[in-house]
Amino acid sequence: MSLLEVINLTKTFDANTAVDDVSFTVEAGEIFGLLGPNGAGKSTLIGMVSTLLKPTRGDIVIDGHSVVKEPMAVKRLIGVVPQEIALYPTLTARENLDFWGKMYGLSPSEIKERATDVLEIVGLTDRAAERIDTYSGGMKRRINIAAGLLHSPKVLFMDEPTVGIDPQSRNHILETVKHLNEAGLTVIYTSHYMEEVEFLCDRIAIVDKGKVIASGTQNELRLLVGNKDVIRIKAFDIPEDVAADLATIKDVDGVTIKEGELDILSPRGREVLASVIKALNDRQIKIASVEVQEPDLESVFLHLTGRSLRD
Ligand SMILES: Nc1ncnc2c1ncn2[C@@H]1O[C@H](COP(=O)(O)OP(=O)(O)OP(=O)(O)O)[C@@H](O)[C@H]1O
Ligand SMILES: [Mg+2]
Repeated sequence: MSLLEVINLTKTFDANTAVDDVSFTVEAGEIFGLLGPNGAGKSTLIGMVSTLLKPTRGDIVIDGHSVVKEPMAVKRLIGVVPQEIALYPTLTARENLDFWGKMYGLSPSEIKERATDVLEIVGLTDRAAERIDTYSGGMKRRINIAAGLLHSPKVLFMDEPTVGIDPQSRNHILETVKHLNEAGLTVIYTSHYMEEVEFLCDRIAIVDKGKVIASGTQNELRLLVGNKDVIRIKAFDIPEDVAADLATIKDVDGVTIKEGELDILSPRGREVLASVIKALNDRQIKIASVEVQEPDLESVFLHLTGRSLRD
């Protein structure tokens, strides 16, 4: 039996279906990725798994316990690192962990011992006596993770834990997740950053508009794109309507523009490259770099939806 089974899970808010008949399983010891753009339903899904939101339909079974029928049993098994920071700014890091320890029903001696352990894990032992409102965004996120680990959960859910922080904190968090997993923790990691999911995850479900649109290992997902190349062009001041121009070129199957970067999907990348560059030159767009590469998870998303993962 899988450690976690999501079974036909659905959540509707009035007319809006945020999670739409989602099913997947996670095995013990995995880092499982939920990759999807803003509004895909990732936080709603995590909310239901963590018993904060009631499913409209379906269930989640963790280690044999139903979230719907046995929420208390599930709560003991899982740790949740929410997307929003859940810390008291005027308390120190250790005082915040004391608070969470009491919430989890740990004894004072357990709290002391576990707080010391989790502070060490997130690398903030020497800052433990400082108030949270003196912390950087990245440090707050690391204490948020420490709080989720305090009661030694079997499964950790992390909801976009690196959004809006500096690269150093981000790398620290990614390394921490790897180490925790190597020590036996099962992790469900949501993100809209392809690179993080590629770095961390064994298997991945790609979610969009409440649905799992593809799932599998990274190789299985890449194969969905078929024999296509991705032309990735970095350029300055790319007007949005260039995408429509490029899409008319023969053998161009999809185009996205994000943050100074164009992704063009084509079965014959090298052949269409000349036409693409000519089209950009005609529009006086200055090209900084051009690469033709194998599909990555970003191109899988483009292939399946015609859109980019990043907003
Ligand atoms: N409490 C709520 N009431 C009404 N609609 C909601 C509620 N929570 C979420 N939604 C809607 O459900 C959809 C999914 O939202 P959700 O926050 O789960 O997405 P997400 O994948 O976590 O996005 P992000 O990457 O921006 O965090 C959105 O359309 C959102 O507006
Ligand atoms: Mg979210």
